[in-house]
Amino acid sequence: METREDLKSILHLLPLALQSSSSHSSLLWPPQVLETLKILSNGPDQSKVDSGSVLFLAISDLRHSLGLSSAKDSLAFSAEEGFALFFDELMSRVDAVEWFGEVVPALARLLLKLPSLMEEHYREAESVGLGVSRGGTGLRVLRSQEAGIVFLRQELIGALLACSLFCLFPTSNRGGNFLPAINFDCLFAALCPSYCQKQENKIICLIHYFKRITTHMPMGFVSFERKVLPLDNSSPCVSYPQIDWWSKSIAPLCNFEVSHSGLIEDQKVEAVEVDFANKYLGGGALSRGCVQEEIRFMINPEVIVGMLFLPRMADNEAIEIVGAERFSNYTGYASTFRFSGNHQDERPVDCVGRRKTWITAIDALCHPGKRQFGVECILRETNKAFCGFLDHSIDELSQIIAQDAQIDKYHFDQVIGVNNEGRNYLLLPESSSAADGPNERVTEAEPKRNSTLEWSFQGLGPKGNVGIATGNWGCGAFGGDPQLKAVIQWLAASQALRPFILYYSFGEEALQGLEQATRWISSHEWTVGELWDMLMHYSSQVLEGDTHGGFFNWLLPSLAMQSLDVNDVQKMDVDEL
Ligand SMILES: *[C@@H]1O[C@H](CO)[C@@H](O)[C@H](O)[C@H]1NC(C)=O
Ligand SMILES: *[C@@H]1O[C@H](CO)[C@@H](O)[C@H](O)[C@H]1NC(C)=O
Repeated sequence: METREDLKSILHLLPLALQSSSSHSSLLWPPQVLETLKILSNGPDQSKVDSGSVLFLAISDLRHSLGLSSAKDSLAFSAEEGFALFFDELMSRVDAVEWFGEVVPALARLLLKLPSLMEEHYREAESVGLGVSRGGTGLRVLRSQEAGIVFLRQELIGALLACSLFCLFPTSNRGGNFLPAINFDCLFAALCPSYCQKQENKIICLIHYFKRITTHMPMGFVSFERKVLPLDNSSPCVSYPQIDWWSKSIAPLCNFEVSHSGLIEDQKVEAVEVDFANKYLGGGALSRGCVQEEIRFMINPEVIVGMLFLPRMADNEAIEIVGAERFSNYTGYASTFRFSGNHQDERPVDCVGRRKTWITAIDALCHPGKRQFGVECILRETNKAFCGFLDHSIDELSQIIAQDAQIDKYHFDQVIGVNNEGRNYLLLPESSSAADGPNERVTEAEPKRNSTLEWSFQGLGPKGNVGIATGNWGCGAFGGDPQLKAVIQWLAASQALRPFILYYSFGEEALQGLEQATRWISSHEWTVGELWDMLMHYSSQVLEGDTHGGFFNWLLPSLAMQSLDVNDVQKMDVDEL
């Protein structure tokens, strides 16, 4: 069975055992683990687990029963201290009584259910999976260069995250497979020896999540998708674009809206929200990190589960997570990050039970320096964003249209999606690679018949009205140029036929003129190709040292004059002397 293939790919990363008889195989906890979990589920009177230090002993016991006590699976140094510090000193006594009296036993019951939740998951993946995606939807390792999707029930996610909390996942074969850490030991260990408040607040968000789901288990789904732009251009999907492809693009630029205040995750329209990701999904979420990506992982903790089975992203890949519920409010950023209370997620749900929260993880180049103005880097970043912004379900649809229309698939390497009116929108390259193909630009086409995939696409994917909500991707700690990165994302969103970009500037100084500049560019009705060429021209001048300012000031010198304030003028005077 195909689903069992799925399970085989991930079994060595799970704490469960597979027992096979001649007719049947089933997942189960090893007997000693089962025993310990049962005792834990009966509450502190029986288990004696009523403090962080005793909880850590129970965890060590479980890990020993799972054969995880050898050096290669060892927990982070100071994890024990961290558990004790968090639950016995930082957490109030009232909260600790609730945590050990109610939440921990409920989590043990959830863990006891894990084998049956997994069985149910694979049965479901088998019966409904193929309606959603050709590759199936079962939990498996979504390997690099293999596009695919996994659909998980929120309850199963809760059980898997409970495994993380109790540090039950085997770790020895993760690093070699480019998988990030998944247990919470480093998260707690990072509280010691030098306590920091942001770390405590990250853990508070996760504890809040566990409290919420053990009180009221959410019943929806979350999907995790590896999106790939195939490097091999014989693939029927949109393949990894080259410089020429961008330069020749006739896609119109989408709307560009700027918001100087507010946060991506609070946006109120339908938009894919960008995760300024590390190539290892989650970045420092489960260690010491606390910037954009890590914060998202704390307030929508279900996305953490993707770290279990999604190895590091390559340049031509992105990860999209749909349906993760938000549980926490917060204030601050990095060292000032604080949990600020419960969040009731009011986002509507799609027809397959996922919340309409689309998160796309794209990793920017880290510390590219001046290199970021080189063609190779710009191409890499634009393609990365394009991969993240492209609705690959539409791309799959386009293959069907291609088949339906009996047109050679190679003519369709720029088929991207659906325009604002919901009509299929096809962009063909100016000169087709096939010998006798049409050498004209075709901008719109109707599918010959109503394919099944079109139907599933209509129910599933973001449609023509879903934009992109983003901000200073790859800037800040990653060292990207904010203006360059904003333009790159605009190009990518436009080429992916998104109707708009909603850009949160987060008060970035270099983007004070963003609204004016994008309005000016929009008024000229440039195509993606035209803006791309302009960016190429600018970048080559930067590299040759012919210009030192940002892209917008280079493009619109008048804008530069307007935005100069008194200090800048004085500085200029001094420089000129
Ligand atoms: C959480 O934040 C939302 C706004 O995003 C606000 O409406 C809500 O009242 C906040 N909840 C609490 C408990 O403060
Ligand atoms: C295509 O099929 C779906 C589902 O059967 C239906 O709702 C839709 O109206 C059809 N579209 C067209 C253009 O016939």
